[in-house]
Amino acid sequence: MVTEEIQEYKRREDALILAHYYVPDEVQALADFVGDSYYLAKVAAKAKKRTVVFCGVRFMGESAKILNPESRVLLPAAEADCPMAHMASAAQIAELRANVRDLAVVCYVNSDASLKALSDVCVTSSNAVKIVSALPNRNILFIPDKNLGAFVRAQVPGKNFYFSGGYCPVHVRVAAEEVGALKRAHPAAAVLAHPECEEEVRALADFVGSTAQLIDVARDNSFGEYIVCTEPGVLYQMRQTCAGKRFYAAAPVCEDMKKITPERVLACLKEGCGEVTLPAGLAERARRPLARMLEIGG
Ligand code: 13P
Ligand code: SF4
Repeated sequence: MVTEEIQEYKRREDALILAHYYVPDEVQALADFVGDSYYLAKVAAKAKKRTVVFCGVRFMGESAKILNPESRVLLPAAEADCPMAHMASAAQIAELRANVRDLAVVCYVNSDASLKALSDVCVTSSNAVKIVSALPNRNILFIPDKNLGAFVRAQVPGKNFYFSGGYCPVHVRVAAEEVGALKRAHPAAAVLAHPECEEEVRALADFVGSTAQLIDVARDNSFGEYIVCTEPGVLYQMRQTCAGKRFYAAAPVCEDMKKITPERVLACLKEGCGEVTLPAGLAERARRPLARMLEIGG
């Protein structure tokens, strides 16, 4: 019933519904496109619709609006925020810029628009290694995620890295001891981890990658079982694309992502609530690093 009404209002409002892999299963099921943050940013940038409903946290909706200012971008749960998006400061960036020569400020998209606006290029977990490798600069200030930053540093030799010290409160709760216990219980299972996990968890993983990359690995690999060290919303797609395989969740849920429900998708389409607005100057400054990411990331 709610789903039918959503389809009706989607037509009326000329809307496209995008959903991240971490939102509840029933929201992923009704979306036009489901993906990781890089894929969704690219879809949003090219959307020719009057309205884009972004089923994700605030920084995702902001990026969509910045890349596609012509469309109205609605967040079904406007209060759903990513705590890591605020874990760097303008003062940290200014201090490094003043003291370190040949510096590039690399900003994970899980950041608010004001941090992007102070950065040279944005990255996501699926393109960070490629983009940082392509930068001519010898020194990198990687904000806000220290774990993704460390993962990139390990694969890009010859550059100096500085970090703002942020982290994802969900992924840092994936415990190496629990992954070890799951591995002992299921010795034939491969371990999949998101780069936001801590070093000791990444060290136990057979594959580290973005949500979309982990889903692809589970689909394409011959392993029949997987221990999944990222938000368990990905299990919905994994189970759909990997019939007969087994998955064991090792991460807690992201409460912010779970705030998005079909009822709230319908309400925002009906009432036009949760619209993302940004001051024009801020949006313009934040667009440059996002556009550079799309240019280098391909
Ligand atoms: P992806 O870029 O892999 O979709 O991850 C987004 C995110 O919020 C991870 O916690
Ligand atoms: Fe932010 Fe972590 Fe939730 Fe991703 S899982 S949206 S990084 S809090």
